[in-house]
Amino acid sequence: MISRRMFIQGACGSVLGVMSVGSYSYLLEPRWIELKSIIIKIHALPKQFEGMTIAQLSDIHHCKYVPREFVRRCVRKVNALSPDIIALTGDYIYGSKEFISPVAEELSELKAKEGVFAVLGNHDCKDITADILSKKGICVLINKHIPLYRKKDYLFIAGVDDLWAGKLDLETTLKGTDDKPKILLSHNPDAIERIKYTGVDFVMAGHTHGGQVCLPLYGPPVVYSKFGARYASGLFHEEKTIMYVNKGIGVSNFPVRFFARPEITLFTLQNSLQSV
Ligand SMILES: [Fe+2]
Repeated sequence: MISRRMFIQGACGSVLGVMSVGSYSYLLEPRWIELKSIIIKIHALPKQFEGMTIAQLSDIHHCKYVPREFVRRCVRKVNALSPDIIALTGDYIYGSKEFISPVAEELSELKAKEGVFAVLGNHDCKDITADILSKKGICVLINKHIPLYRKKDYLFIAGVDDLWAGKLDLETTLKGTDDKPKILLSHNPDAIERIKYTGVDFVMAGHTHGGQVCLPLYGPPVVYSKFGARYASGLFHEEKTIMYVNKGIGVSNFPVRFFARPEITLFTLQNSLQSV
């Protein structure tokens, strides 16, 4: 039989446990950035692009729970990686348009040798955000591509409109591309179900936040995807396309992260024929 003293001790332990998990997921983990380095092997990558680096920042969601100082810290961490290219995969704000200008101001400090490219997410006010980011020198790709040259060789950097909030149009996006490698930014990873038939080599996505809350031995109970937790985070191979889903930087709906740390990713491109 449980004594009164044992019951009180157990109850106190449970309350302390809940408070610890609460503090960790509200105060600590949302600011505990994980830096990931990943090699992406691309078929027929031109020699000039061997070793090219791409830093990805996603789902910043600047709002009162994701303050400007934290965005600044993320920008500095990305710049410290000295990437050749920076890819921003959407959802710059959460909740109010008032956050667009300050987040764009911080993102204007991003430095990449060959350009900063962006797509928009389902939380972005499309026209305003695209306009402000463009004025900050960021190349916003909404259903379009550009060739990126190194000497006389090139590959394509493309971006699609958001699957939920926009009109994702892969035909328009890729029209005029040839057999050179294609790297695509897509906010929503669910788009892979269409992208994988288009010959795109590498997709960078975000949107899911890795579920934002991941339960040990279970995974994320809630992922905003029609495929559930299938594309929650990480690397995927679909047909001949590689997709990486970044867990993002900020938070939405609930200001917590649990076993889904904010993430900055650095990709290094390699020709798939090169040995490790
Ligand atoms: Fe998001």
